[in-house]
Amino acid sequence: MARSRTVTAEIWDEGAAAAYDGAAAGMYAPEVLGPTVDFLAALAPGGRALEFAVGTGRVALALSERGVTLAGIDYSRPMVDVLRGKPGSDRVEVVVGDMASAAIPGSFDLVYVVFNSISNLLTQAEQVACFRNAARHLRTGGHFVVELEVPDLRRLPVGALAQVFRVADDGVSFDTFDLAAQRLVSHHYTVKDGKGHIFRSPHRFIWPSEMDLMGELAGMRLVERWADWSRSPFTADSDSHISVWEKP
Ligand SMILES: C[S@@+](CC[C@H](N)C(=O)[O-])C[C@H]1O[C@@H](n2cnc3c(N)ncnc32)[C@H](O)[C@@H]1O
Repeated sequence: MARSRTVTAEIWDEGAAAAYDGAAAGMYAPEVLGPTVDFLAALAPGGRALEFAVGTGRVALALSERGVTLAGIDYSRPMVDVLRGKPGSDRVEVVVGDMASAAIPGSFDLVYVVFNSISNLLTQAEQVACFRNAARHLRTGGHFVVELEVPDLRRLPVGALAQVFRVADDGVSFDTFDLAAQRLVSHHYTVKDGKGHIFRSPHRFIWPSEMDLMGELAGMRLVERWADWSRSPFTADSDSHISVWEKP
């Protein structure tokens, strides 16, 4: 697991943490965050929830305002420092550690990992360990929720070096793939106030069916799969999914 830990520490440093909320402003939009929090709150009414890769608390703080008692795990101390600087963060118990192995005492009604963060674990073994860690924290009948992109390989022509997924006035973003290793690197080139900025994050992409096996290995069963937080049907054309496993 050493490789992912090193990569994570390098990427989510002070600079990335300071820029994160601005760069992810679209993910704070009420039409994005509202349905996310509604969905999660319904799985832990008045109960306890644990967010893996809690980051700067985008979802955790909003969910704690809904009467859910929140805990979070994140590998990046700078991201957690930004979270701890926000109002209401004293209600969120945070451990700096690896979501594949770190523990928080007690059991939870809900464990969740959103915004593709499970793909920050760069090996299949670490991702399986993450499912097992979720199951360890859940009470019987509790739920594990994952929000993750579906690998977008249908648009990748044979021999293509990269796939562009954002072209805007302030820059471009594209993915490069290592198909044999089931990995991609997202590259974001942006220009702000006349200055260029590059942010790169490596991911191990996971197929939904592969995740179902990970759930089974962790002793959980898939109970729901949607295309988005508003419960649109998941189809062959969905580019993302919200999946829910139950600990029987
Ligand atoms: C895209 S941010 C998501 C933050 C937050 N969940 C949100 O939705 O805004 C990804 C987060 O994953 C964290 N992360 C990456 N690898 C991790 C690991 N192995 N264990 C715990 N956190 C990790 C990073 O430090 C970063 O805070």
